[in-house]
Amino acid sequence: MAADALFDQAASVLIDRGIDGGIDCAIVLGTGLGRIIDDMVEPISIPFEEIPGFPKGAVSGHAKRLSYGVLHGKRVLVFEGRAHFYETGDPAIMRVPLGMLAAFGSPPLVLTNAAGSLRPDLRPGSLALITDHINYNGPNPLVGDTGDGRFVPMVDAYDPHLRARLKKAAAASGANMGEGVYMWFSGPSFETPAEIKMAKTLGADLVGMSTVPEVILARRYGLRVAGLSIVTNMGAGILGGAPSHGETRDVAATATTALRRVLRAFLSEL
Ligand code: HPA
Repeated sequence: MAADALFDQAASVLIDRGIDGGIDCAIVLGTGLGRIIDDMVEPISIPFEEIPGFPKGAVSGHAKRLSYGVLHGKRVLVFEGRAHFYETGDPAIMRVPLGMLAAFGSPPLVLTNAAGSLRPDLRPGSLALITDHINYNGPNPLVGDTGDGRFVPMVDAYDPHLRARLKKAAAASGANMGEGVYMWFSGPSFETPAEIKMAKTLGADLVGMSTVPEVILARRYGLRVAGLSIVTNMGAGILGGAPSHGETRDVAATATTALRRVLRAFLSEL
């Protein structure tokens, strides 16, 4: 995997635009969660298109961009909108955005997403901390990488220390947050009820179309990672679950308030 000149080129663009201080935390925002950055003071925003090696294209007409600014007293870099495997078939589509973070001191990374729930106690509208994952989709973003660094250990890939901090933040902000194992399906079609039954049998609590390849990449590049799902729906066939993009987007938007509160408490204590 050729690389890492691209990481430096991407970092240079950020530095040229004024992102030249440290970063205390990086956050990837999932579907419908963009409003989190309303709380950011005087953000510097750069469209992904203008950064070398960043994914191109938009979802539902919204340009993806990166924003940097002070959020709850911390210097935060937010990726507003990620790129998904299902857009191009490339599991390493988020390689440069994540690899570039080493140039900014390898800040802790919080990946958020919208997910379907396979457990009756993880209700739509609630939050769920990801404890571990299953790469059911299969493709690994490190295929083609070279050197011993590609053999990335994945025990405690979801950093126990960051998890503990997020749990504390949820308790402090009164948010309802469960936890569970996230299984990656490629999308963009949703799962069938039979696939959801299988996922449950195999040990999943949550299903979604992102995050897993990003965690693998982030661990490759030495970042500490946490994953936080907004449960937007019950998985297909569970308690009548029949997920759709509209439902996912709408529920994510309403649950943003809880996520905002948790992130505020988390960042304040970081
Ligand atoms: N399946 C896959 N991805 C999702 C779901 C789901 O039920 N809900 C939100 N993202």
